[in-house]
Amino acid sequence: MKILMVCLGNICRSPLAHGIMEHLVQQKGLSWEIDSAGTGGWHIGKQPDVRSIAIAKKYGLDISGQSCRMFNTKDFEKFDHILVMDYNNLNDVKAQARSEEELSKISLFLKDNIVPDPYYDDDQFDPVYQLIEKRCKELIGEFASSL
Ligand code: 4NP
Repeated sequence: MKILMVCLGNICRSPLAHGIMEHLVQQKGLSWEIDSAGTGGWHIGKQPDVRSIAIAKKYGLDISGQSCRMFNTKDFEKFDHILVMDYNNLNDVKAQARSEEELSKISLFLKDNIVPDPYYDDDQFDPVYQLIEKRCKELIGEFASSL
């Protein structure tokens, strides 16, 4: 199973989803591949936002080794599931799909809701972390039962 987490900047939400999911699947002994990317290119090559690194550290995860990259159409070939954080990400990634099969790989991480962008609000990093962790646990159950 290969899962890609996508947000706008690839420095706040998707690096958390990437790190949390990677940690949870490792804990369960699953050899799934997890990655993340952004639809925007402002932060390419940079580490996650210091506030994402800090909140992950608070919960025992080190995401400082991640490096920001942009989503690209090769990701449709590599990944089974492309999980996006909000409707802008959904539109931007869908616009790059070249087939029904590629379109079918894309869904909202929260199924029918968005993960709010904490970039402009320091206080949102903790609730966003909790939201992402809870959904990652559900997703593992959903994807494991589909194997
Ligand atoms: P993210 O948050 O999409 O969760 O990584 C953002 C990070 C950076 C920007 C916007 C959102 N930005 O405009 O630089």
